[in-house]
Amino acid sequence: MNKIQKPTLEICLTPDAVSFIDLTGKITVIVDIFRATSTIVAGLASGVTHVIPVADIADALHYKTQDYVTAGERNGEKVEGFDIGNSPFEHMAQEFKKIVMTTTNGTQAIEAVKNTAEQVIIGSFLNLRAVTNYLKSQNKDVVIVCAGWKGRFNAEDALFAGALALKLKGDFWWEGDETLFTSHSYTSVKKNLSKILKHSSHYKRLAKKGVSDDMDFCLQIDKFKNVPVLEGDLLVNLEKV
Ligand code: MLT
Repeated sequence: MNKIQKPTLEICLTPDAVSFIDLTGKITVIVDIFRATSTIVAGLASGVTHVIPVADIADALHYKTQDYVTAGERNGEKVEGFDIGNSPFEHMAQEFKKIVMTTTNGTQAIEAVKNTAEQVIIGSFLNLRAVTNYLKSQNKDVVIVCAGWKGRFNAEDALFAGALALKLKGDFWWEGDETLFTSHSYTSVKKNLSKILKHSSHYKRLAKKGVSDDMDFCLQIDKFKNVPVLEGDLLVNLEKV
């Protein structure tokens, strides 16, 4: 018997796992809840017109001469010589329009998929519903890629993947055990999400740097309606979502 025709949904719990999946023709959702993808969504929802994500600090500095604000971090701290760091509050400051950004994991994950995926979009709890609606409207296979931390698993990214998988249930065939595992994990912790994530490794790492407000901000659900998409080298808001 034929399966009902539906697109598939897969989850990579670390960017390295992408190498096991053929991304051709698929929409890839990049996730780095603390903080890169949340910060990109917040900035583009608040007056930033585009963000250029780059892997290297040198590439970011190249744009500094072209009227761009240099933004990002290494190991959670603003890069020396950059204009701003990776806080959503910095990116929402109204004076910034064009940002070039490099981060320890989030922009690396974008780099890892951008030449093979059909489309790259940016997901976070801040735009969960908007991402869900967009993916449901496309009828294309989807891969959620968690940025993690230096190749390792991060709880907050995996829990977002589970939340998104649950929203897409029924419209997509779930492939792989990651969908099952992350969706059940999200269901069991969602009422205490911020309390539980205070014990996560990256929350603790950033809290020591005094930016707990950033993480509380990043865990708000559906605060924004924009879906950033990679067009060439630029992240811009999708027009109709
Ligand atoms: C990253 O891309 O690794 C993160 O967003 C790090 C951070 O929290 O600034």
